[in-house]
Amino acid sequence: MVIDAFQLMKSYVQPASRLDVLKGVTFQVKEGEFLAVVGPSGAGKSTLLHIIGGLDKPSSGTVSVDGEDIYRLGDKARAKIRSRKIGFIFQFYHLLPEFSALENVLLPAMVCGRNTDMSFLKARAGELLGKVGLSHRLEHRPGELSGGEQQRVAIARSLMNEPKILLCDEPTGNLDSASGAEIINLLAELNRDKKLTLIIVTHDSGIARRAQKIVMMKDGRFMDGPGRADDHNNNNDGLKDEVRCV
Ligand SMILES: Nc1ncnc2c1ncn2[C@@H]1O[C@H](COP(=O)(O)OP(=O)(O)OP(=O)(O)O)[C@@H](O)[C@H]1O
Ligand SMILES: [Mg+2]
Repeated sequence: MVIDAFQLMKSYVQPASRLDVLKGVTFQVKEGEFLAVVGPSGAGKSTLLHIIGGLDKPSSGTVSVDGEDIYRLGDKARAKIRSRKIGFIFQFYHLLPEFSALENVLLPAMVCGRNTDMSFLKARAGELLGKVGLSHRLEHRPGELSGGEQQRVAIARSLMNEPKILLCDEPTGNLDSASGAEIINLLAELNRDKKLTLIIVTHDSGIARRAQKIVMMKDGRFMDGPGRADDHNNNNDGLKDEVRCV
């Protein structure tokens, strides 16, 4: 298993209140699998993705990436796994405002430090920006780009270190349907040809249908436990029959 999440819980405790955002989420993802996570706003989808990606510690439960229990590791070791194995497309891009589009895409490679050949890295960053249709915006800063363009820079950035796992939080939320379809085609192609393991959180049922598996998340839980891929009764979300809940 490339991802093994067990009994994940996440609570935010404030002096006068306690919010249980994840209430015991268990699931596994195999190498090269394409999983879509759908569900209403506030269900805990982004929280879950951040925890799987090593960005936010669960209150309890474990996450293993390639067999490594990432929250038993120190911050430095976890950051290394993240940098080398996991690409992340955030719901709200998180681009660095002072840097150009090209520099934003280059950044993960600089942090990772595996390859220090700047001319090679610049060429790769430029190529990735070309793939998301931004060859003409390399020198623009995020503030000079539209929302959809910023999202595409974030997508190029997520692929810079050739991750084996890509976690995408509403990757096409700010794109028109044609650009959104191109991005999904690109991700689906990487999934198919390079065995990129793909987890996409989306409100778009058209995107969810491209996945091999769909999980519905509601109120901090997966609607169905793992291992019930052939339960037709779970398929009450208007999606095609061949795409079933995990
Ligand atoms: N740092 C935080 N402190 C307190 N509550 C938080 C924090 N982060 C998230 N929450 C709460 O946790 C719940 C789940 O948030 P999350 O962002 O995971 O939802 P989501 O399923 O991604 O929703 P959306 O589809 O709107 O993006 C929300 O009710 C949110 O208000
Ligand atoms: Mg979210």
